[in-house]
Amino acid sequence: MAYRYLWTPLAIGPITARNRIVFSAHLTNYARDGLPTAQHAAYYAARAAGGAGLIITEEHSTHPTDWPYEKLIHGFHREVIPGYREITEAVHRHRVPIFAQINHNGGQASSMYSRLPVWAPSAVADPLFREVPKAVTHAEIDEIVAGYAQVATNCAEGGFDGIELQCSHSSIVRGFLSPATNRRTDRYGGSLENRARLMIDIVDAVRTAIGPGLALGVRLCGDELIEHGTTIDDAVEVARMVEATGQVDYINTSIGVATASLFMIEASMHIPPGYAMFIPSAIRKAVELPVVGVGRFKDPLQAERALAEGHCDLVGVVRGQIADAEFAAKARAGATDEIRLCLSCNQECVGRMGLNRWLGCIENPRTGKEATTRSRPGGTEATTRSRPGGTEATTRSRPGGTEATTRRATAATKASVMVVGAGPGGLQAAIAAARAGHRVTVYEKQRHPGGQVRLAASVPNRAEFGDIIRNQLAECRRLGVTVEYGVSVWAGLVAERAPDHVILATGAEPQRPWWVPVDADNVVDVRDVLDGSAEPAGDVVVIDELGFHQATSVAELLADRGCKVEIITNGMVVGQDLGITLDMENWWMRAGAKGITQSTDLVAMGMGNPAPRRALNLLHHPTGTEVTRTPDWVVLAVPANPVEWLYHELRGTGVSVERVGDCIAPRRAHAAVIEGERAGASVPRSTILSR
Ligand SMILES: Cc1cc2nc3c(=O)[nH]c(=O)nc-3n(C[C@H](O)[C@H](O)[C@H](O)COP(=O)(O)O)c2cc1C
Ligand code: SF4
Repeated sequence: MAYRYLWTPLAIGPITARNRIVFSAHLTNYARDGLPTAQHAAYYAARAAGGAGLIITEEHSTHPTDWPYEKLIHGFHREVIPGYREITEAVHRHRVPIFAQINHNGGQASSMYSRLPVWAPSAVADPLFREVPKAVTHAEIDEIVAGYAQVATNCAEGGFDGIELQCSHSSIVRGFLSPATNRRTDRYGGSLENRARLMIDIVDAVRTAIGPGLALGVRLCGDELIEHGTTIDDAVEVARMVEATGQVDYINTSIGVATASLFMIEASMHIPPGYAMFIPSAIRKAVELPVVGVGRFKDPLQAERALAEGHCDLVGVVRGQIADAEFAAKARAGATDEIRLCLSCNQECVGRMGLNRWLGCIENPRTGKEATTRSRPGGTEATTRSRPGGTEATTRSRPGGTEATTRRATAATKASVMVVGAGPGGLQAAIAAARAGHRVTVYEKQRHPGGQVRLAASVPNRAEFGDIIRNQLAECRRLGVTVEYGVSVWAGLVAERAPDHVILATGAEPQRPWWVPVDADNVVDVRDVLDGSAEPAGDVVVIDELGFHQATSVAELLADRGCKVEIITNGMVVGQDLGITLDMENWWMRAGAKGITQSTDLVAMGMGNPAPRRALNLLHHPTGTEVTRTPDWVVLAVPANPVEWLYHELRGTGVSVERVGDCIAPRRAHAAVIEGERAGASVPRSTILSR
């Protein structure tokens, strides 16, 4: 069988995982008023149905002083228990064990929601929250320990099969373990043994609370990656202490501190897969307990190799299963190439967490929507695939599956659908329409698919972004979608092909801002550089008005080609939104290494005034000062124009037409995918039946 190690069951204390793929803990923002919701239940159940071996929920707070973000589950309230039962029953229906992660974030929090001082080992402010915490007294330490025990009891009553103590990247336990945040001189400070005392007390109290029938795990940070922080040597020692308690059944791992070095915990595509493997690898050599390895496991082959090479006993696949709930089942069924690979873009999962929104995925419109009934046709992959090889694949009940079957287009309602544009919006529309049973042809004027994604993926370290198109094309192929390249669609062609319905995904085109003189031939768009139609050299200024990867990517590309590059933005920071996808820190490091300079608060106002023609006139808006640069080239990363002429041409002709993505309003890829899914899944029947 493929992936022999992955499918070998493993005992984790009193619990057996049927395979080694763990859906490890991660925030979802699905909680309401501190309580778990039906959305949690549906979300986790979808991954259980999709073949995961073990599910570990997001953290549940163990004490009222711990409320760092709005939508946290308040595990210390007894009112959570019915919600817990809903979650555990939904997951157990698929014969998958589910553990609850419980935690107190300590000083990595603010008092904004709780209106209570933040608790920590010492009065050391966290660099992100910038709030000085209260150094806890011994009585408060006892209260913390009791809180963990109470929440563990609630979880046991709620039907969980195990408890995981988050002692890793955002936790009061980590705060005690780390010399960077623990300045105590009592029996909880100083030596590693003292610093680990709180953790050991919690292990003891939780084990007493849950008894021997539930599994107990501890998640440890393998390297805090901060000054005076703990390293892998400390982690190995702590793991030994955990094992020596004789009360713990497994060790999970993590890297970084959720505030100072968060970008390493949920590493984006700029950090290579397997980057955190050294942690489980070192710990596994020191202890007998099963060890979970986590961090950019992108595909089952890589996970299998980690097991085969002895780096870990279980693999945490978080974003891989956010992107594709059926990651495990597809691998099990021998359909690895059907897995919708995570891009490690962080745009809709991590990015939305930072914005206090519910967790989603850029390429999976169902993520976060599992609890909602599909109101349209557009069922699931289930209807098109019944595969041999692996019970999980064949027995799982997929969300929306039945509905998909009953609502599929019949001969009478099957439409011919013309999709114009093979970017992410067009391809998603094609997928959704084909899933609903329609006959779909995609027309792309270029000789290749992908639209702007293809360009975005062509720059250094961004190739994985292109996987979205690879994933979509693979799904189109399975669904029988025809794609015709090199075809420019116009009204005459639509009339000739006479589709029942047209979905336009014609994208956006570069726009020249008002301040660029019409004859300025040294001013080009990012896309001109990426597609090779312009080749700037010498001194280049990149104007960043989009605040995302466009400007930084092209700057890196040009710096690699030997240009002297300056990025200028009217904002307070170049590539502002790189912060929410955790790409900022690495960008700064790369920019520094490549000699790229970054200038902020400068608004482009014109060119050539005074001469020379290539003078770029800028306004430093905080001071009103005029500034000039004289680059050889200016590259624009500025808002684009929707390509909407075809829509307007068709609207008057009686053709059933709608549009998705950038040709409505230029935005990021997630918007195109969501709109494509919506449009493809709701190809109007009235149009079809009237023909
Ligand atoms: C949106 C998001 C939220 C997370 N929240 C938590 C959390 O509450 N507790 C935790 O231990 N890890 C959390 N993590 C870290 C994950 O468990 C995991 O270590 C990380 O995502 C790397 O694994 P991956 O590359 O498979 O996604 C979170 C990850 C993501 C993507
Ligand atoms: S949004 Fe991006 S990183 Fe997050 S799960 Fe989806 S593809 Fe992966």
